[in-house]
Amino acid sequence: MATELTPPVLPAPSLPIRTDRLVLRTVVAGDGAAIGAYCADPEVTRYLPFGPLDAEGLAGRMERLTAGTAPSLPGEILALAVEHDGVLAGDLMLRLAERHGPADPPSIAELGWVFAPEHAGRGFATEAARALVDLAFAHYPLHRLMARLDPRNLASARLCERLGMRLEAHTREDYPDRDGSWSDTAVYGLLRREWAAAS
Ligand SMILES: CC(C)(COP(=O)(O)OP(=O)(O)OC[C@H]1O[C@@H](n2cnc3c(N)ncnc32)[C@H](O)[C@@H]1OP(=O)(O)O)[C@@H](O)C(=O)NCCC(=O)NCCS
Repeated sequence: MATELTPPVLPAPSLPIRTDRLVLRTVVAGDGAAIGAYCADPEVTRYLPFGPLDAEGLAGRMERLTAGTAPSLPGEILALAVEHDGVLAGDLMLRLAERHGPADPPSIAELGWVFAPEHAGRGFATEAARALVDLAFAHYPLHRLMARLDPRNLASARLCERLGMRLEAHTREDYPDRDGSWSDTAVYGLLRREWAAAS
C-alpha cells in the first residue's frame, strides 16, 4: 500500500529577537497604522510588487503579515515587525520557496524588507536583516537564501551586499512592472556554507 508522504510541520521560531538597537517580533493588527503610513508612500513602494497602498490594500497586506508566524510550506512567510525604542521602524519577510519533493521542507527562502524613510540611513535595516538571516539558517533547514530586486533599487542592493549576499544574476526585462513596462531583476544569493564561514 502506498504511503502518503507529508512534509514535516516546522515549529514557529522563538520570538522576539533582540539586537543591539532593535526588537524583532511578530506583526500584530495594531501595527497597521505605522505600516500603512510607509506603505502609502510612493517613494517607499517604487520598487515593491505593490503600489502605494490604500485602505483595502493595507488590509490585505496586514492579513498576510499577521498570519506569517509559522511557515512550513513553499509560499508561506515569516513576517517580522522591527521596533526601535518601542516605535515600529519597518518590517521584514522570509518567504519559504523551493524544496526537493513533497515530503521535504523548503530549503530555499527569499528575503524582503520595507522600512519607513524616517528610520533610514542608520543601519536599522542591516541590523534587522542580519538577525533574520541568522534566524533563517539557524531555525530552518535552508541551504540557500536569496533576494530579488529591481537593480535600480540601489539602497536594497547595498543592503544585500552588507549582508554578504552575492550578486548572482541580472536578468533583463523579465519583471512585469506596474506601469506596464518590463523591468530587470537582480538576484542576490547566500549559501548556508557562506553564512557559516562568516559567522
Ligand atoms: C531597502 C531599505 C530597507 C534600505 O534602507 P537603508 O536605510 O538604506 O538601510 P539601513 O537601515 O541598513 O541603513 C544603511 C545606511 O545607513 C548608513 N549607516 C549609518 N549608520 C549605520 C550603522 N550603524 N550600521 C550600518 N549602516 C549605517 C549606511 O552607510 C547606509 O547608507 P548608504 O547605503 O548610503 O551607504 C530601504 O531603502 C527601503 O525600505 N526601501 C523601500 C522598500 C524596498 O524597496 N524594499 C526592497 C524591495 S526588493
